[in-house]
Amino acid sequence: MTYKVGLLGLGTVGVGVAKILQDPSGRHPLLPDIKIARVGVRSLNKQRDVAIDPNIVTDDLESIVNDPEIDIVVEVIGGIEPARSLILKAIANGKHVVTANKAVIARHGNEIFSESKQKGVYVMLEAAACGGIPVIQALKQSLGGNRITELTGIVNGTTNYILSRMYFEGADFGDTLAEAQKLGYAEADPTADVDGYDAADKMAILASLAFGDRVNLEDIYREGIRSITSADIGYAKELGFTIKLLGIARRAVGKEESDLEIRVHPTLIPIQHPLANIHGVTNAVRIEGDPVGEVVFSGPGAGSGATASAVVADIINVVAALKSVPNQINQLMGCSHEHYAKIAPIENTVTQFYARLLTHDKPGVIGDLGTAFGHHQVSLNAILQKNTIHDGLAEIVVVTQQVSELNFQQAIAAIRQLPTLHSIPTILRVL
Ligand code: NDP
Ligand code: HSE
Repeated sequence: MTYKVGLLGLGTVGVGVAKILQDPSGRHPLLPDIKIARVGVRSLNKQRDVAIDPNIVTDDLESIVNDPEIDIVVEVIGGIEPARSLILKAIANGKHVVTANKAVIARHGNEIFSESKQKGVYVMLEAAACGGIPVIQALKQSLGGNRITELTGIVNGTTNYILSRMYFEGADFGDTLAEAQKLGYAEADPTADVDGYDAADKMAILASLAFGDRVNLEDIYREGIRSITSADIGYAKELGFTIKLLGIARRAVGKEESDLEIRVHPTLIPIQHPLANIHGVTNAVRIEGDPVGEVVFSGPGAGSGATASAVVADIINVVAALKSVPNQINQLMGCSHEHYAKIAPIENTVTQFYARLLTHDKPGVIGDLGTAFGHHQVSLNAILQKNTIHDGLAEIVVVTQQVSELNFQQAIAAIRQLPTLHSIPTILRVL
């Protein structure tokens, strides 16, 4: 039997999916049973990097999700609407769905999974987090016997590409972002990458699978990478760190057992840490589970072929399940969480901080800073003062010990009142 795919979107990911499905030789033996029957795009006249019969291409995407001939709808158009409505209509019409769209799943997963459960269809999302890394199915199946305690990851390829080029080549932020866009890594609106929204979407999905409850996206603390300058990268190197946009999800320390801590922010990582050597578009996810211990997945987090690899794996899984147990949903392939996780507020976090301060170059400045930090129980691990830079300003970098976020923010508020302070260009957390 042949299974018919309706492909919504023929951009970076859609083209990659079409190329695999058109060239099954040497790949999974189920691939020849899967055919692209219809393709939906926005612009019918655009040149495509893959040969597709023009008779199956349409700009009427509703006609695809309503087509009784289609078994599996693959949504790779991105964004919230019309993606959400098309996915819901496909489900309502009894079609299985494969999507790479973390934005729509992180915001509307609740209704999408409730509807799919009711209709008895699969909604698969391996490509929605970390592109080509098979981490979703690992969390759903292979690590199922574990109690997960922590999931930490570099989950955005665009920002890792930018930060790696800044670290190794001193590259300019804007030029590197333009290159990431050209390579097809960035979202249609790259602020989603740069400001950490894309990483937060992925952490909502990964944390939900790891910890067994739905995650409300608004509860995730999020910062992007815009504040990182070459000066910060230089200091990080000098202090034995690299800087990565990191997603961190763990059971909250010393709080109610049910509380989770989930945050996305640029982070100084010691260079010997397994995530410090993940560069370019590569993503990595480090999972700690009981009893398995530490497991690290790494691989390409974005790009046409890598993402299509995950999308096609989902299509194969659906076809395999339909062939072996028709009309019954395989529990290991679904997402069935009903309750929302309680996320601890960022003020409850305990971590180390890095801060770069500009002060007037006067005697006693370091003493003033030390006193303000000390008053708020913030102990310092390192303090660096460089030569006066310009206009009588000195640059001072401090790294704290493990301190409460609340105490640190109170110390910073007090420091902002010091007459000797000029500004605090950067505050970062340390892993
Ligand atoms: P692109 O912008 O390259 O492609 C989007 C495709 O969808 C295009 O073919 C476009 O048509 C079509 N499309 C968009 N909006 C509409 C609409 N309103 N009506 C009809 N067609 C529409 O996106 P990507 O392939 O990069 O990303 C697709 C999805 O995959 C997103 O959810 C993204 O987050 C996700 N993803 C992307 C990765 C990557 O590396 N790029 C990695 C992992 C996930 P047309 O070509 O005519 O403009
Ligand atoms: N824009 C995303 C990234 C695509 O750069 O990681 C992969 O999800």
